[in-house]
Amino acid sequence: MLEKLDEIQSSALQALYSVMDEESLQSWRVTHTGRSSALMQVFSGLGQLSKEERPLVGQKANQVKLALEAAFNEHSQVIQKAALKRSLEGEHLDVSLPGRPLRGGHLHPATQTLRRILGILAEMGFQVYTSSEVETDEYNFQNLNFPPDHPAREMQDSFYVEAGERGDNPVLLRTHTSPGQIRAMRAAAATDPNNPPPIRIALPGMCFRYEQITARSEVQFNQVEGLAVGRSITFSDLKGTLNDFARRMFGQNARTRFRAQHFPFTEPSAEMDVECFVCGGKGCPVCKQSGWLEILGCGMVHPLVLQNGGYDPLRYTGFAFGMGPERQAMLRYKIEDIRYFWGNDVRFLEQF
Ligand code: DAH
Repeated sequence: MLEKLDEIQSSALQALYSVMDEESLQSWRVTHTGRSSALMQVFSGLGQLSKEERPLVGQKANQVKLALEAAFNEHSQVIQKAALKRSLEGEHLDVSLPGRPLRGGHLHPATQTLRRILGILAEMGFQVYTSSEVETDEYNFQNLNFPPDHPAREMQDSFYVEAGERGDNPVLLRTHTSPGQIRAMRAAAATDPNNPPPIRIALPGMCFRYEQITARSEVQFNQVEGLAVGRSITFSDLKGTLNDFARRMFGQNARTRFRAQHFPFTEPSAEMDVECFVCGGKGCPVCKQSGWLEILGCGMVHPLVLQNGGYDPLRYTGFAFGMGPERQAMLRYKIEDIRYFWGNDVRFLEQF
């Protein structure tokens, strides 16, 4: 029996050393150490042996088992190393292959137009001044000459943040960028209250109105406000500035016209139209056959607004204007529905 065990061991080891891959290694394990292997049969036959033989054979069988297990572990490492070496030598990584292109993002069309407007205004000497999107009734309306019951407030139904809690000065989301006029004037006037410095600023930012969302109106949109305050600024400065702006924005041949309008914070007030750049003024669906596109509101800063900003209206005058980048983008790219802007549909955004 002991000799048989020696034989089992030597033939198993011999078989093991001819194994060259993982798969045959596993089948070797089953054949030589598995339940029906010769070695295991020796274990299950131990009971039939005589009392004297049993411990000797049992001990020897255990030694063989340990020897085979150790040999298996060792050989399995040899095989793994060989497999790794083969795969390192056999497989090539082509580092010169082009990578997968990353899809580049870009600025939102509203941001592109906003920046274009600010870029042009910057060339014309307007510095950017930003102010808060959350305002008080005082700044958004009262200081801009909207009295509490002024009908213009009706047009600008607002998102109130703390309605009712602050009496007649509730907090709201600004309905236009015009409150920035007061903040900018007050900040400048504070530097020299007796002789406030001249101002030439552009106020960009998001505005909010509590409106039914339709193809033509959204609850949020950008505006760019312009403000110039100084000594003897006149309406012809306003017209010259805005005509120049229109030519830089819409092309050297852009024609404009001013129409009388009313805003509480300017007097006199106007709206500027630019000749329809889609049909060249002949009349088309974009300009609703009129040949003109309205692009901004403007006017001479109302004396009360100057005063609220800390500027003596007897010594200072100024002009202001306000425009909507999304509206200009819609006209320029013939976008028919304003809801696309904040709809987050990349199929729309990718086109710009
Ligand atoms: N704040 C006005 C609006 O939201 C736009 C506007 C009109 C601004 C005339 C101005 C201006 O500064 O002079 O409709």
